[in-house]
Amino acid sequence: MTARYRMHEHATREALAAELAGDIVQVLLNAIGSRGEALLAVSGGKTPKLLFQTLAREDVDWRRVTVTLVDERFVPPSSPRSNESFIRRNLLRDEAAEAGFAGLYRPAATVEMAAEMADEALSALPFPADYVVLGMGSDGHTASFFPDAVDLGRLLDAHSPHYVLPVHAASAGEDRLTLPLSRILSARNVALHIEGEEKKETLARALASDDANIMPVRAVLADAPVEIHWAP
Ligand code: 6PG
Repeated sequence: MTARYRMHEHATREALAAELAGDIVQVLLNAIGSRGEALLAVSGGKTPKLLFQTLAREDVDWRRVTVTLVDERFVPPSSPRSNESFIRRNLLRDEAAEAGFAGLYRPAATVEMAAEMADEALSALPFPADYVVLGMGSDGHTASFFPDAVDLGRLLDAHSPHYVLPVHAASAGEDRLTLPLSRILSARNVALHIEGEEKKETLARALASDDANIMPVRAVLADAPVEIHWAP
């Protein structure tokens, strides 16, 4: 399986945040210039905090930008595990306070019901996304494509018409909501943002593997031209 990616190794996490934020801004400005609006899908987890704080200070007409999530834990925004509250604290502030936001969490009885509601809401957004920023876990997952996810094949269907799907994976800690692979592959730009030696090793394992069921991040690297940004 061939991989399509470009590797950007940065000396520091600050340098990474500055360069990746600069790339995202250029794409948002071009999208606003040509279509009057832009759609940015971002990941949660811990890694992107500095990137988001850097991006939030950038001079963009944020009222024309909608921010959505690549994936979400099935927990309310009051939970410390909520990606939505992480984004609100670190990205939807400063200049970017005026951006629109479409979260994935819904206070429904089941993650399936929440996914259906979020799917309908996201179908009104201007997909394809202009920029998708992915993270990666040291098990090789990206978005909520966990190696042990029930029906991983449905999440990794490159032609899925869905916007949001429910995820059950024992290793994830809680149920999840995720964009399917199709919404990532169809994005105009995709970056994978990873930091530290452990994730560099995981990336090497993923690139050496040809099985997306074992290293799900491989499904993105196999198809989309991905800009990989890494710092120690
Ligand atoms: C999440 C994610 C997930 C994340 C990776 C890396 O909700 O957990 O969006 O895909 O990007 O797990 O997480 P860290 O940055 O915390 O290592």
